[in-house]
Amino acid sequence: MATTFESDTRPMIPDDIARIVISPKSYTNDEVVYGAFKWLRENMPLGVAEVPGYDPLWIVTKHADIREVEKNAKLFHNADHNPVLNDQASDAFTREINNGSLRILSSLTYMDPPEHGSFRSVTSNWFLPGKISKLEDQVRVLARQSVENLLSFDGECDFVKDFALHYPLRVIMTLFGVPPEDEPRMLKLTQEFFGVHDPEEQRPEIAADPVVGAKMWAATLEDFYGYFDKLSAARREQPNDDLLSLIANSRVNGLPIPRAEANGYYVAIATAGHDTTSSSTAGGLHGMLLYPENWDKVKADPAMIPKLVDEAIRWTAPVKHFMRNATEDTELRGQTIRAMDRLMICYPSGCRDEEVFADADRFDITRSPNQHIAFGFGPHMCLGQHLAKLEMRVLYEELLPHLKSVELAGEPRLVETNFVGGYKSLPIRFTKN
Ligand code: HEM
Repeated sequence: MATTFESDTRPMIPDDIARIVISPKSYTNDEVVYGAFKWLRENMPLGVAEVPGYDPLWIVTKHADIREVEKNAKLFHNADHNPVLNDQASDAFTREINNGSLRILSSLTYMDPPEHGSFRSVTSNWFLPGKISKLEDQVRVLARQSVENLLSFDGECDFVKDFALHYPLRVIMTLFGVPPEDEPRMLKLTQEFFGVHDPEEQRPEIAADPVVGAKMWAATLEDFYGYFDKLSAARREQPNDDLLSLIANSRVNGLPIPRAEANGYYVAIATAGHDTTSSSTAGGLHGMLLYPENWDKVKADPAMIPKLVDEAIRWTAPVKHFMRNATEDTELRGQTIRAMDRLMICYPSGCRDEEVFADADRFDITRSPNQHIAFGFGPHMCLGQHLAKLEMRVLYEELLPHLKSVELAGEPRLVETNFVGGYKSLPIRFTKN
């Protein structure tokens, strides 16, 4: 973003609010972060944050503005800069180790048209709702196994650590083609990848580094690439019907998919494919514990489960932001956005926009419609959304009939991240039917 104008009329966000939105630590406390978003929506729905050490950026908090920016993928690019917010020192480090480029991961998120469409079409068919619905029986078997495991705890457990982390991991790794014995490794790498700013997830040898975020990404990506290079080669040699084989043997623009883009796909699916769903699953239970009328409603009428799933995803919004940059001067909400200005798209804020959701902080499975924006919007909208919803629905269908009552048995804890994350721990006590 240009830092000076002849007459600067941009609305400048107060320093304390700007720091809350940008700082990974704020996201460990819902009251703090949602409080800042509420203030912004009410007072400065599209304003500029200038926090020392970061590029100046527009913070986009309104549901309508998020849709407007996201649907216009030519005017607002993902990838001319970093699509994930990092401080300037971290971006400088990434460029230094990556031939001057910020594209350290060649996933769909790091692509713009027309490249994005070419690579998205490799798997877009596989993720269509009609295809995903055929996986229901297979997913239900995995859900039953997970529920049996949860019920084997003696009335008390950590719903995240003992349960919610493992089921979506098992689902995606099974469909993907990663063997079960490697799931703990995938989970650890994912937690490091999304938890680069969380002291409990950081690698000790990097934790004190001034560019810890960029170094953690570089380290975890190297491990992921090493792992997937081998698996990808094996699937080229001997393909089967898993998702990994589909990607490894795909052709883009008439050529075999390059190594970097194949690895970009593998890492996106091996990370985003379960962490988000785990958080939303835990958030759904937490929401019902805080607002118990929802528990009564869904227990009385299991046909409400799909609405519980939507509300769990809205209320949790596990993807906290993606970045865009303007490709030319334009207007948004009456403000002039200059070419190469950066915008931070705040999904959790859009999901609590009172203009769209009445009593937005309330967890309420009766919302209708529930047009949340937790999956994004436009051409980059979440590829895995139908799978995420299927696996959550099936899980609650299998779990809820076995539970007579559930209560909180301790304070829930959230991951320190401004990117992707949510529940780290949700201690519960339960009785069985
Ligand atoms: C509740 C669960 C999930 C949530 C809330 C979520 C949210 C998101 C969001 C906000 C985006 C960015 C959209 C945008 O830029 O407009 C995204 C993209 C993406 N998600 Fe998800 N996601 C979830 C589950 C999954 C699953 C299960 C998978 C894979 C199996 C997945 C794979 C992807 C991929 C590959 C992209 C990049 C799409 C692109 O840039 O074209 N996600 N997701």
